Amino acid sequence: MSVKSTQELVLPVGVTLDRFIMRSQSAFPYATGELSQLLRDIALAGKIINREVNKAGLVDVTGANGTANVQGEHQQKLDVVANVRFIRALKNGGEVCAIISEEDEDIIYTGNDHGKYVVAMDPLDGSSNIDVNVSIGTIFSIYRRVTPVGSQATVEDFKQGGRKQVAAGYILYGSSTMLVYSTGCGVNGFTYDQSLGEYILSHKDICCPVQGSIYSINDAYYNSYDNAVQQFITDSRRDGYSARYIGSLVADFHRNMLKGGIYLYPSTRKDPQGKLRLLYECYPLAFIAEQAGAKATNGYRNILDVEPDSMHQRSPFYTGSAQMVEGLTADM
Ligand code: AHG
Ligand code: MN
Ligand code: MN
Repeated sequence: MSVKSTQELVLPVGVTLDRFIMRSQSAFPYATGELSQLLRDIALAGKIINREVNKAGLVDVTGANGTANVQGEHQQKLDVVANVRFIRALKNGGEVCAIISEEDEDIIYTGNDHGKYVVAMDPLDGSSNIDVNVSIGTIFSIYRRVTPVGSQATVEDFKQGGRKQVAAGYILYGSSTMLVYSTGCGVNGFTYDQSLGEYILSHKDICCPVQGSIYSINDAYYNSYDNAVQQFITDSRRDGYSARYIGSLVADFHRNMLKGGIYLYPSTRKDPQGKLRLLYECYPLAFIAEQAGAKATNGYRNILDVEPDSMHQRSPFYTGSAQMVEGLTADM
């Protein structure tokens, strides 16, 4: 029996996420529904974070928490809230046996050793923008475990490499809240309708323009970038490109996927390996990028082909419109 892509299924804009997941699952004759349920769990966690983000200015959830995460970075209260909410949603769901999170050094065991999946996540991305009502996000990456079902998950379940992701996506808490995800059959975006409490398919089969006119990079680190990146910035200025840098990877990435553009976070003197994390920032967004016809690289290799060494490793990251990424890497 052939498997239909989601594009072939009749799934019009306006359909709910639940229906979309259900119909997409029916295209896979042997699907057990566990991945579908996991995606629903993530969507539910996104609704809860959305609620917290929306009231962030009203209650005492903004500001520093007084603790640091595994990378020694300042944790915001909402980072912690998002982390707790996501873990709880995935524990309750039962499909996930273990999680890694930007906010926890060690593997988080859900207590469901019979779960077939593991999830790597950045529960709250763009933390410097929390306190000022600017777009932030959540990033997630899903693998089918390689250790036997019923045993305790290990680091090997998380170090499979980007090509082994079975699904990945992000939630953007912006002027609207959106869930964008892919199971490897294209990319679809769902806008959250607060009044209905439902995600509605609003961006069907997202395709990133092959060429764009936006570049997104922290220009303040110019002197810290290598020659190829400095030259790219010089050329972009000369060629009349526009700079757009929110400082929330999810938001910058999302805009570039829709409008065409390139996001760059190179290595710097302060962060010689780059700042972004391979497993729960670069891999999932690279998966989405590739599914949308865009590209993602560390400057030398397609990010999805980079072998992971450790769960929290960092990587330089360049992603966006195919021709722009190719143009950049040709000079590297
Ligand atoms: P996080 O909030 O999860 O730590 O991620 C922040 C990341 C990313 O979202 C953003 O693009 C980048 O850090 C911004 O870093 P700079 O302030 O160094 O430009
Ligand atoms: Mn992040
Ligand atoms: Mn984060």
